Amino acid sequence: MRIAMIGTGYVGLVSGVCFSDFGHDVTCVDKAEEKITMLQAGKVPIYEPGLDVLMAKNVAAGRLSFTNDLVSAVDGADAVFIAVGTPTRRGDGHADLTYVMAAAEEIAHAMTGYTVVITKSTVPVGTNRKVREVIKAANPKAEFDVASNPEFLREGAAIDDFMRPDRVVVGVESDRAADVMAEIYRPLYLRDFPILTTDLESAEMIKYAANAFLAAKITFINEIAGLCERTGADVKEVSRGIGLDGRIGNKFLHAGPGYGGSCFPKDTAALARIGQDHAFPMQITETVMRVNDAVKKRMIEKIREACGDSFNGKTVAVLGVTFKPNTDDMRDAPSLTIVPALIGGGAKVRVVDPQGKSEGEELLPGVEWVDDPYAAAMGADAIVLLTEWNEFRALNLSQMADAMKSPRMVDLRNIYSRDKALKSGFETYVGVGR
Ligand SMILES: NC(=O)c1ccc[n+]([C@@H]2O[C@H](COP(=O)([O-])OP(=O)(O)OC[C@H]3O[C@@H](n4cnc5c(N)ncnc54)[C@H](O)[C@@H]3O)[C@@H](O)[C@H]2O)c1
Repeated sequence: MRIAMIGTGYVGLVSGVCFSDFGHDVTCVDKAEEKITMLQAGKVPIYEPGLDVLMAKNVAAGRLSFTNDLVSAVDGADAVFIAVGTPTRRGDGHADLTYVMAAAEEIAHAMTGYTVVITKSTVPVGTNRKVREVIKAANPKAEFDVASNPEFLREGAAIDDFMRPDRVVVGVESDRAADVMAEIYRPLYLRDFPILTTDLESAEMIKYAANAFLAAKITFINEIAGLCERTGADVKEVSRGIGLDGRIGNKFLHAGPGYGGSCFPKDTAALARIGQDHAFPMQITETVMRVNDAVKKRMIEKIREACGDSFNGKTVAVLGVTFKPNTDDMRDAPSLTIVPALIGGGAKVRVVDPQGKSEGEELLPGVEWVDDPYAAAMGADAIVLLTEWNEFRALNLSQMADAMKSPRMVDLRNIYSRDKALKSGFETYVGVGR
């Protein structure tokens, strides 16, 4: 199969690299010239574990290349994937489809022969039909089908998720397109990974329903955590107790500072908007969004309380600012709400993050970036554990406490126990839901 991948972000680049590893001939396209220049030089513009090695292997095998020239990549391709961003449109919560539709129009002008145009970006129900209209209008003679193939990979574990997915969802309307999709995913099909073939609308809905459900699950345990704090229960025990129930499952049941990231906030907002547009309000999703905002604000109050009810003049060391570990992605990270509140209240903030600085420097003005947690703790009034990078899971707490002016820990990921923290010399330990 000859594949063109439009958009080389977290999804497009991983998908393109993995498809080339399946044995397909893949050209990755991006508008951003600096990204393509880096990729052509063998450098990966994002942080995703394992991606550099897999990319180098497939470039060396002659199956993977990068270009700014969409026309040459699409010309003669059997399949063209659209993997551009669908951020929240300013003002109304809708998914912004500008990039998807612009890509569709460019593809329409460039395709030659029968082509399947596949939307991998997360898009509202009905978008694939609109993509088809756009292509038809731009190139009435084009011979093509559209297909929906939402992506479920998680940043930080993206290659494994792509290569060993829980399922692949493919929305198609013709057998011919279904055959092309089956050929593309044959290596997974042969290894018995479930491939679910549906109509276009169901495939589009599956992606939003999955993300909204996961966001609801996280938010549910975060709300239970709040009640645990008032009642003396420990949310870690509660999570374990309910997670062992096979009907519930133990994933996405860790209480924390609220969900963030490149998908859940924008996808819940888009689903809520789709519901409103169809006069069928998504009441659960709308509530989840509201509760999640409240959770983040509650975290600020927790830190303020730990700092003696005021941030003014305090030095706070924040460990981890990316929205989760093993990524450099800062989109909608809880840190973007929490850190400015500390600074706004008069705190001096030091930040340690293994990969967050390149993105975070611009997004978190006024913080001091420090390489090492012990250096960040020096003379500090509090440390806040915000993202659970492995680097922060086995800190020498006595060394941290000794270095601090007043040893107080706000552990928003419940990594440590109060006992251990207090025994190590911390005078205050605050977790979530305990
Ligand atoms: N990031 C994730 O974990 C994840 C997971 C599943 C699904 N998704 C969905 O996948 C889509 C892409 O997400 P992402 O995080 O990879 O986005 P991203 O912002 O990291 O990457 C998008 C890329 O597309 C490029 N682009 C935009 N218009 C283009 C055009 N006309 N031609 C060529 N390139 C163009 C941009 O320059 C950018 O590099 C979104 O819809 C997102 O919701 C993301």
